[in-house]
Amino acid sequence: MKKDFLKVTDFTTEEILDTFKIALDMKADRKKYSEALKGETLALIFEKPSLRTRTTFDVGIQQLGGYSVYLSPAEINLGKRESVYDVAKNLERMVQGIMIRTFAHEIVEDMSKYAKIPIINGLTDYTHPCQAMADFLTLHEVKGEFKGLKLTYVGDGNNVSHSLMLAGARLGVDVTIATPRGYEPNLFAFAEATEAAKQTGAKIEVVHDPKEGVNGADAVYTDVWASMGQEDEAAERRRIFMPYQVNDDLMAAAKEGAIFMHCLPAHRGDEVTDSVIDADYSVVFREAENRLHAQKAVMYQLMHA
Ligand code: CP
Ligand code: NVA
Repeated sequence: MKKDFLKVTDFTTEEILDTFKIALDMKADRKKYSEALKGETLALIFEKPSLRTRTTFDVGIQQLGGYSVYLSPAEINLGKRESVYDVAKNLERMVQGIMIRTFAHEIVEDMSKYAKIPIINGLTDYTHPCQAMADFLTLHEVKGEFKGLKLTYVGDGNNVSHSLMLAGARLGVDVTIATPRGYEPNLFAFAEATEAAKQTGAKIEVVHDPKEGVNGADAVYTDVWASMGQEDEAAERRRIFMPYQVNDDLMAAAKEGAIFMHCLPAHRGDEVTDSVIDADYSVVFREAENRLHAQKAVMYQLMHA
């Protein structure tokens, strides 16, 4: 049966750990898997902009011996020029996998339902699972383990926060989300993470005081205050979120030796200061690089025969 990667919890704990093993093997030797997906093609559907996701999927499939075809909003205009069903029914006859970055999560779920080929979520308004895979791979590389770790996400309860909760739940890492009131993570995502955490003992919590949130944190994570599609709210959000800025003062309240994480792109001076993102303890570019290795391993898991 075909397998998709729409949410981190589509993989079991064992599957995630296996994927990390493969990712590290790929990272150690870029050429070792150069025929793993020989002749396979991945369609890249983008309805929002991207630097990292586009580059890492494009380079990643090539390093595995395959090809990508990039489809911009102008080409497809999902659901408007052509229905999701019709796009799925066309592409499944032409390519061996589809990566989609879009708005509503239902679009990737529908694509998964209609297409007979694997679907990879490259970000929806609800989740960003490939990002969380790269983030937890990075966390493990830097800290050497997952056991006993606490990651605190400070800012908007958005797609990235949801994926971090789900990944923490699967991997036994405590995840605290510190948000202003009214900007908490989606209740369904929180409930799903809490349920998944029962198997690993991870503690998933939401707080409103950023200093309380980062207390004891091994990693402090933030993301933009206005996500793609929320540009109109940027000014209001800047006012509301300023007390949640990750700056030297907030980092000083985290555990000694805490690292700083961000999915990027960053809005320097808003959610994070230069002094933090450029500090020695910041691992943001390592996370970006690990997108490549983690996604190559995800593609391998879903697409190799
Ligand atoms: N972190 C991330 O997904 O970056 P892009 O939006 O540039 O792909
Ligand atoms: N939350 C951000 C993540 C970008 C990678 C957004 O959706 O725009």
